[in-house]
Amino acid sequence: MRKILVTGSAGFIGFHTARRLLDEGWQVVGLDNLNRYYDPRLKKARNKLLRRHKNYKFYKCDIADYPKLENIFRREKFTIICQLAAQAGVRYSLENPFAYIHSNIAGFLNILELAGKYKIKDIVYASSSSVYGDSAKTPFTETASVDRPVSLYAATKKSNELMASVYHKLYGLRCLGLRFFTVYGPWGRPDMALFKFTRNILAGEKIPVYNKGRMARDFTYIDDIVDGIIAALARVKDVDCAVVNLGNNQPVRLTAFIKILEKVLGRQARQELLPLQSGDVLKTCADITQAKKLLGYAPQYKLAAGVRAFVEWYKSYYKS
Ligand SMILES: NC(=O)c1ccc[n+]([C@@H]2O[C@H](COP(=O)([O-])OP(=O)(O)OC[C@H]3O[C@@H](n4cnc5c(N)ncnc54)[C@H](O)[C@@H]3O)[C@@H](O)[C@H]2O)c1
Repeated sequence: MRKILVTGSAGFIGFHTARRLLDEGWQVVGLDNLNRYYDPRLKKARNKLLRRHKNYKFYKCDIADYPKLENIFRREKFTIICQLAAQAGVRYSLENPFAYIHSNIAGFLNILELAGKYKIKDIVYASSSSVYGDSAKTPFTETASVDRPVSLYAATKKSNELMASVYHKLYGLRCLGLRFFTVYGPWGRPDMALFKFTRNILAGEKIPVYNKGRMARDFTYIDDIVDGIIAALARVKDVDCAVVNLGNNQPVRLTAFIKILEKVLGRQARQELLPLQSGDVLKTCADITQAKKLLGYAPQYKLAAGVRAFVEWYKSYYKS
């Protein structure tokens, strides 16, 4: 049976990925430090579901803790890594930049080092659309210059791509970086717009709308992202070293997004119009030609259907 290490397995994308891998017959070693960036009860609830599966084994571990991480590598002997653990969030990187260096740089380096040491050849890892910064030219293509990030978060993700490329050259690691575009869906992250807006609208509270809603995001449904990750795990050995966009190629304006959510919830949002936040970009849109070519990636979900699935999950999980 194929054995894989999924880091960040109690996180939003890691949980869904681990679940799919288990369904597909993999043996999954999950790892997460269950940190308090957002409510750890949500991470524990995801992890509890995974732990029901006999082929899932979980370690509470910080990827920046080299000795502890090495013990897991020594003991478990997985053959491939899906590296999703990171300090996520653009805005929080202004508040706590050190968390990003800790997890995304020191932690990521440990993963690469140990992969080299334990002769694990294949790594699929999370990058981000944020590497494109404020690039005016959309859709974003992988060949575009990404030398001007506008947040430390983006700078750490771009660094991951560079680090992966070095370890490919030095040790022959085969690395596939996935630039995710605003992933949403059931079990999603409380710091992201869909979660915050749903919570506030249901509670009758105002929703913060930055730049008066004059922003657009290429929202991508979690099941489409997981399809892309699974394909990346299958293809990484042929790809060698690359980065690929996983987006939807259908940017939606924030104002339209709010309308869709209002319709699904059957309630009107009270909006608090705020200026553009530093670190934020105005528009994201993925060119997914490469993902189609290399991974057979073809996103299926329309935003309204995905938002409906999120709201159904939210209401049943929080009994609201
Ligand atoms: N969700 C998105 O829209 C999006 C977009 C672009 C990139 N990404 C990237 O995808 C990956 C997964 O994101 P997510 O949305 O699931 O976020 P998430 O915060 O829900 O998941 C990350 C998980 O990693 C864990 N973690 C953080 N630092 C760790 C460390 N040092 N050691 C061990 N575990 C640690 C956290 O506890 C969390 O459970 C991240 O690398 C993120 O940067 C996500």
